[in-house]
Amino acid sequence: MTTLTKTEDAPVPAGPDSFLSVRDLHVRFSTEDGVVKAVDGLSFDLERGKTLGIVGESGSGKSVTNLAVLGLHNPKSTEITGEITLDGETLTGAREKTLEKLRGNKMAMIFQDALAALSPYYTVGRQIAEPFIKHTGASKREGRQRAIEMLTKVGIPQPNLRVDDYPHQFSGGMRQRAMIAMALVCNPALLIADEPTTALDVTVQAQILDLLKDLQQEFGSAIILITHDLGVVANTADDLLVMYAGRAVERGSVKEILTQPQHPYTWGLLSSMPRLSSDVNEALNPIPGAPPSLLDPPTGCAFHPRCGFVDEVAGASCTGDRPSLALGRAAACHLNAEQKQTFFTEQIKPRLG
Ligand SMILES: Nc1ncnc2c1ncn2[C@@H]1O[C@H](COP(=O)(O)OP(=O)(O)OP(=O)(O)O)[C@@H](O)[C@H]1O
Ligand code: SF4
Ligand SMILES: [Mg+2]
Repeated sequence: MTTLTKTEDAPVPAGPDSFLSVRDLHVRFSTEDGVVKAVDGLSFDLERGKTLGIVGESGSGKSVTNLAVLGLHNPKSTEITGEITLDGETLTGAREKTLEKLRGNKMAMIFQDALAALSPYYTVGRQIAEPFIKHTGASKREGRQRAIEMLTKVGIPQPNLRVDDYPHQFSGGMRQRAMIAMALVCNPALLIADEPTTALDVTVQAQILDLLKDLQQEFGSAIILITHDLGVVANTADDLLVMYAGRAVERGSVKEILTQPQHPYTWGLLSSMPRLSSDVNEALNPIPGAPPSLLDPPTGCAFHPRCGFVDEVAGASCTGDRPSLALGRAAACHLNAEQKQTFFTEQIKPRLG
C-alpha cells in the first residue's frame, strides 16, 4: 500500500516514500454556465515503482486531475488550489519553463485522445524523436533511430518505413501506439496513462500493458493508470483510487478493493461489470441514475441521489455532511464498518458471483 492521507479535508504531509504527492487538489473551470468543480479536494500519494489505478465513471475528474499534475490546464480559465509535488519539487504554481522541462522527460502522459495529441503536420517519427532530442541533446539521426526503436517496441510493423508516415496514414490503434512510444521515449519517472488501451484489440492491449510493466521494472517508474476497465486494473495496478464527482470515495490496494470493497459506489461499479461466468443474456446491473452536474454538485455525500443505502444512515448525514476519507484503507461513506461488511457480504457479493 502507498502512504495514504488522513482525510480529504485535513490532509497530512506526504509520506517519506512518496514520489508524487497530491494534497487537497481543487480544479475549477469558469464557464458561461458557472463554475465547474471538476476536482474537489483530492489527495493521494504514489511511490516509485508502483502503479496507481484510477477508476470512476465518465466525468468524475480523472483526466482533469492528471492534466493538473502535468500543468496542462489553461491558467486563464482554470483555478487550481492545493499542492502537487513530484520528487520533492512543488509543481503547483511552478513556472511554465520548469514544467516544460519536466514534461516529456521526468513525467509524461499517454493521452486519452490519440488523434488530438498528435500533430497532423509532422511525421510520426519526428514527433516521437522530438522530446528525446530536446531532453538528451541527441542528434537528429540518433533521434530517428530512437523513434524506430520505440515504434518496434510498441509493435508497429516495418518501423523503419512507418517512421516517415504522417499520423493520418496510421490506423486508430497504430496512432495510439505511436503516442505511447512518444510518452515512453525518455523513460519517464512518472507516467500517466489515460485509458491507454481502450482503442486497441485485446492482444495488443496485453502487449502495451506488458510494455508499461517492463518500463516500470527497468526504470522504477511510477505509473498512474486511468481506466474504465477494472479487469485492466486487477492485472496491472498495486493500489486503486475510486473517484466520484471530483472526489476520492475509496482507496486501498487493488486486492482489498476488489475482494472487500467498502463504498456503495464501488459496489455499483463492480456489480455493473459483465461476469466471465455469466450467461450472455443475463442483464447487467448498471448504477441507477447519472453522475451529477459539477456546476452544482449534491450536498453531503455526492453519491446520495443514486445510493440505495441512504436510509441505513441515521439522520440526514448522507444529504447534509460530506463524508471524509480516513487514514489508510478507507471509504468515504457514513455507513459504519459493521454495516459495510454486512451489506457487502449479504447483498453485493452474491451478485458478483
Ligand atoms: N476545460 C474544461 N472546461 C469546463 N469543464 C471541463 C473542462 N475540462 C473538463 N471539464 C469537466 O470536468 C469534469 C471532469 O472531466 P474529466 O475529463 O476529468 O472526466 P473523466 O473522469 O476523465 O471522464 P472520462 O472517463 O469520460 O474521460 C467533467 O464534467 C467535464 O465536463
Ligand atoms: S454516505 Fe450515504 S449516500 Fe454516500 S455512499 Fe454512504 S450510504 Fe450512500
Ligand atoms: Mg478522461
